[in-house]
Amino acid sequence: MASNVSELTTYDAYLAGEWKKSSSGETIAIQSPYLHDTIGRVQAVTQDEVDQAIKAAHKAQKEWASLSLSERGVFLNRWADELVKNEQDIARSVMKEVGKGFKDSRKEVVRTADLIRYTVQEALHMHGESLRGDGFPGGPQKKLGIVERVPLGVVLAISPFNYPINLAASKIAPALMAGNGVIFKPATQGSISGIKMIEALDRAGLPKGLLSLTTGRGSVIGDYLVEHKGIDMISFTGGSKTGRHLSKQSVMIPLVLELGGKDPAIVCDDADMDVAVKSIMNGAFSYSGQRCTAIKRVLVNEKVADELVNRLKAEVEKLTIGSPEDDSTIVPLISDKSADFVQSLIDDALTKKATLVTGNKRERNLIYPTLLDHVTEDMDVAWIEPFGPVLPIIRVSSDEQAVEMANKSEYGLQASVFSQDIDRALEVAKEVEAGTVQINGRTERGPDHFPFLGVKASGMGVQGIHNSLVSMSRQRVTVMNLK
Ligand code: NAP
Ligand code: G3H
Repeated sequence: MASNVSELTTYDAYLAGEWKKSSSGETIAIQSPYLHDTIGRVQAVTQDEVDQAIKAAHKAQKEWASLSLSERGVFLNRWADELVKNEQDIARSVMKEVGKGFKDSRKEVVRTADLIRYTVQEALHMHGESLRGDGFPGGPQKKLGIVERVPLGVVLAISPFNYPINLAASKIAPALMAGNGVIFKPATQGSISGIKMIEALDRAGLPKGLLSLTTGRGSVIGDYLVEHKGIDMISFTGGSKTGRHLSKQSVMIPLVLELGGKDPAIVCDDADMDVAVKSIMNGAFSYSGQRCTAIKRVLVNEKVADELVNRLKAEVEKLTIGSPEDDSTIVPLISDKSADFVQSLIDDALTKKATLVTGNKRERNLIYPTLLDHVTEDMDVAWIEPFGPVLPIIRVSSDEQAVEMANKSEYGLQASVFSQDIDRALEVAKEVEAGTVQINGRTERGPDHFPFLGVKASGMGVQGIHNSLVSMSRQRVTVMNLK
């Protein structure tokens, strides 16, 4: 499966049921964001190999779809078991490849096994329905409609770097349970972890050819995959720019997009400060802010702004900074380019007279947690997603102004509202344009069976276990015309 030349592993791709080297003869070096060294190489798969993988997936899918749900579930449950058995090894891969703390990497593996098992159970408990024709006006209709869910065919699953196991499995598991074949394109930075996850699925005995893992740069094979006639549905998680590009390329193919965000924490003047501070800290800075659902701006009522800023400053200065191997909260960002980008947002804000509360220190791609106060609308950091540990504070004079600022953003993934008056919190929540609003808590995707969606530039369609099963299948209606 993997060859070890001079202690550097070159991983094979998993194509049409076989682990093999790409005929391109080309491999891609994977750099660790904190070791600053190549940790392995993955195959650069060719268009021809994509064709063969899709063909094999269609062939295997027919038989797979004829299995009962519980038979499919057996394979998936075994996959979950394999992931748990190899938790340490997979988590080490995640840590090395994307620089996530070891404890969090382990949590990601366990969360994924739970998600797979829940997906099996959810699919087993999704029932069809029957409808009587005489329910509609206009005379007796002696018809009985039977509505079932059937697979779409072959699903293309494209995942981002920051949850290389969990966000991939949250597409693959429902796609398989719904009876589809899968082509999995992992983020290049994240492919070694993706390979380990698929090795576990292979060990679970998944029928050969049903799923292929096509490693390669999105910029090279991405469009080819997305435009391929053999793809029947695309489930994508990643940046809004890539998502927008995909939606132009994939004409008339069902598409679910989970994209970027600029989640606001709205802090009302009656907020419980202990709750707000704890949630904002955790929401904004875990994994250096490299979460789509990270709190990426604070809209605080000016009456309590000084108190909030002082308390956040004290907490930011306590954050652990350094290596994911030590479970530091603040770790090096995924690339030097990402760090340059975050730095440019800080520089722009400071040039435009934001107040630096703490931070603005950098060692290569390690950006120290940075708190900026008195951020105003003319600053890029007020609107742009940094995907890094920088938190802008925008002071507002009322709930209405907070809502106005929240909704001026092009994004609408999640938002948090902090108030001790539940009616007031609900009133604000109702006005915010976002897929999910959290009251008195941090923005986050889980629990994974909740619907997860973004509006505006944050996405299209809905994920979450039940909704993914729905989006990866279609209804088939059989009508019995009765005498
Ligand atoms: P990205 O650059 O958009 O990449 C996401 C995936 O798309 C990768 O697998 C990438 O492959 C692939 N890709 C790139 N160009 C493509 C093309 N032309 N056709 C098909 N696929 C293509 O995002 P990222 O940097 O990995 O992740 C960070 C972003 O994702 C942030 O904006 C974050 O908010 C967002 N995100 C959103 C959610 C959510 O659920 N809403 C969750 C996590 C992350 P390569 O790696 O080979 O380029
Ligand atoms: O990065 C995007 C993920 O969907 C966020 O998941 O809220 O569990 O960290 P999370």
